Amino acid sequence: MSTRAVFQPVLETTLQHALTYLEGLEQGPVSASATLEDLRERLSFTLAEDGLAPRTVIDELVAGVQGGLLGSAGGRFFAWVIGGSLPAALAADWLTSTWDQNAALYSCSPAEAVIEEACGRWMKELLGLPESASFALTTGCQMAHFTCLAAARNAVLARRGWDVEKQGLLGAPRIHVLCNSQVHGSMERTLRFLGLGSECVQNLAVDAAGCLEPEALAAALKDVAGEPALVLLCAGDINIGAFDRFEEIIPLAHAQGAWVHVDGAFGLWVNASPKYRHLLKGVEQADSWATDGHKWLNVPYDCGYAFVADTRAHRASMSLRASYLVHAQEARDPFDWNVEWSRRGRGVATYAALRELGRNGIRELVERCCRHARGLVTGIGALAGAQMMWEPQINQGLVRFPDPSPGATEADHDARTDRVIAGIVQSGRAFVGGTTWRRRRCMRISVCNWQTSEADVAATISAVKGVLGNISEGRP
Ligand SMILES: Cc1ncc(COP(=O)(O)O)c(C=O)c1O
Repeated sequence: MSTRAVFQPVLETTLQHALTYLEGLEQGPVSASATLEDLRERLSFTLAEDGLAPRTVIDELVAGVQGGLLGSAGGRFFAWVIGGSLPAALAADWLTSTWDQNAALYSCSPAEAVIEEACGRWMKELLGLPESASFALTTGCQMAHFTCLAAARNAVLARRGWDVEKQGLLGAPRIHVLCNSQVHGSMERTLRFLGLGSECVQNLAVDAAGCLEPEALAAALKDVAGEPALVLLCAGDINIGAFDRFEEIIPLAHAQGAWVHVDGAFGLWVNASPKYRHLLKGVEQADSWATDGHKWLNVPYDCGYAFVADTRAHRASMSLRASYLVHAQEARDPFDWNVEWSRRGRGVATYAALRELGRNGIRELVERCCRHARGLVTGIGALAGAQMMWEPQINQGLVRFPDPSPGATEADHDARTDRVIAGIVQSGRAFVGGTTWRRRRCMRISVCNWQTSEADVAATISAVKGVLGNISEGRP
């Protein structure tokens, strides 16, 4: 049988399944309807002795996941911070698997090494980061933190004459971590993975806008003067999209020799818009930056990006030489900047997304998502029985649903808020999540999917209104 005859039936079947799925995202339920038992019965049975035809595998796989997928690739999904996949990025992701390259080294895949080179250069321009910074394409923002903070660990210890790559951490000078108390939990996990432990963290006070207070940082820096220190900042926190005042904060940290790392999982992308760029003023002075592709850039999972100003420290913390590897002299080997050894060519989908959108498309995407987030939060907040807690300054906002009963307590308001969130999810008409913000339960709205439209905003507000009506009239 020819190669074409081997692959064509299964790939054509897959294309039809993919199109059916994508079409269904527009109107279909956004939440899962299958139970754990259903899914186990359909998917987690005893593996047969004999194999199946590829097309049967795909048909049965598609039947097996029915009701077990969330509509997070579509436009009515506002929980966590989850983007969709742009058409060119999705297609490029299929090609990545088709080409099946090991994107570790230029010698394993010259084209993919050059694609990553282009992605790094284009993103530094788009995000307003120094042209000279090194970069890595990682699995997500957490691994971008890991990459950046491995470089940070190397640099702050090297300044004290300690080579962490050779000597490890036993007996090393202690590293202090001072951070905006709102930083994402992925930062704590990163510190644990890097052997620094979560107890090295000092969470610092934020002001009413969620920004780290310069006085708090200055006092904390004074306490650790002369010792290795990292300062962790937010470019868009998970609840309200708050940005630290980089222009003011970073020079304070640098004056004490601290390394400044910025979590810009989604927030760094606002640099593409002249309307929002001011929020990032001074961010380019930091030492490292982490962001995601699978959030606002709408690249399929998994894709994040790390950028490091100190290229020596970045390379020293990642690279290795082995006699059987072939290293490029002129080209960039991703292996020198990444945690993985063998790795997927994840630059291809990023490359496609950046080219599909161009600079104008990214600006427009960012501004559109921010507009929809504001429309959703103000629209829901204006409903009877709702209270807007945070009007989005970018794409993140909060709403609460107070219990109208006389004498209702904060705990009652929390319970009602969770009940409304559960009701919306159960309706399948939109998907939202909850959070505890300033000790109160809130519904969190995040918009970063390219597909979210005015119609999705209206449909979601109407779904919330329906749930509020049902609850106030005691309907289940
Ligand atoms: C602000 C922020 N930082 C970091 C992360 C972790 O990113 P990832 O899941 O890509 O590792 C997230 C994920 O939601 C986030 O919102």
